Amino acid sequence: MIALLEQIISDCAHYPSQGHVATYIPELANVDPNKLGIVVSLEDGGVFAAGDYREQFTMQSVVKPLILLQALMDSSIDTVRALVGVEATGKPFDAFNYSDQALTGAHINPMINTGAIALCTLIRGDTYPEKFARLLALTRKLSGNPELDVDQAVFHSEKLTGNKNRALAYMLKAYGMISDPVEEILDCYFRACSISINCCDLAKIAHIFASHGVHPATKEPLFPAEYAKYVNATLATCGMYDGSGEFALTVGFPAKSGVGGGIMGVIPRRMGIGVFAPSLDKHGNSVAGVQALARLSQAMDLSIY
Ligand code: DON
Repeated sequence: MIALLEQIISDCAHYPSQGHVATYIPELANVDPNKLGIVVSLEDGGVFAAGDYREQFTMQSVVKPLILLQALMDSSIDTVRALVGVEATGKPFDAFNYSDQALTGAHINPMINTGAIALCTLIRGDTYPEKFARLLALTRKLSGNPELDVDQAVFHSEKLTGNKNRALAYMLKAYGMISDPVEEILDCYFRACSISINCCDLAKIAHIFASHGVHPATKEPLFPAEYAKYVNATLATCGMYDGSGEFALTVGFPAKSGVGGGIMGVIPRRMGIGVFAPSLDKHGNSVAGVQALARLSQAMDLSIY
């Protein structure tokens, strides 16, 4: 397994030059574009790692499945579905033009910014710091890493420059989909995106989604299987944005990317994968990360289709 992962890392080493690191969050521009790490967590408990797998990066959109899970755990499935739909938009993660009519939940999904911002309102808590504390606690629990925390520099950088998300949140407010103060909701969303993690943490979180909410080692049920299936289904259809169709063909399993360069791969009933390579393609997906996952999928016959 290690030999396979090392081979993949070396075969993909040239891909970062085909993309660019994110710069619209200024702090993200400071990373080394050539980093590439991968971790797989297998059904028998084995965890294998190669490359720059110890490197810390911020979750960014990889946190969206966790926001969705926390909203499902704290509200009902019906409440979540009524606020945010499940259809792919076929548009970038931060697009405005989902509809030429009044915006409704049916136009958005939990994996785009508008959907994730709306779902922050369904997390339990009297205040937004309380809601975020619940989300961070869940992320720590699923990763098995109690030390996970917010990268303050990235958080402040995005808070300062995140006017597109501010506009998206005001659009939700304009159409009556959210009622809480926009800045408080965004504070929770920006903090969530700024949780610092590595490929190991990501592979472990992915593995719990793969094993339908049951901790693969302790067999402890952490959340209901129907929530895992809800999250995994939205990852399969919307997790790689307007690159989701291509990803389904070339890689073939539910996954979530983030502009920090992370991708979480979920192979239901089989394994979890965490990959990190910060140079991104035009969709905002890690170039080398997608290529590494395609090679791993080919070598291990991981396509669920
Ligand atoms: O809201 C944003 O724009 C970022 N915090 C997250 C976007 C993101 O990661 C899109 N993923 N590929």
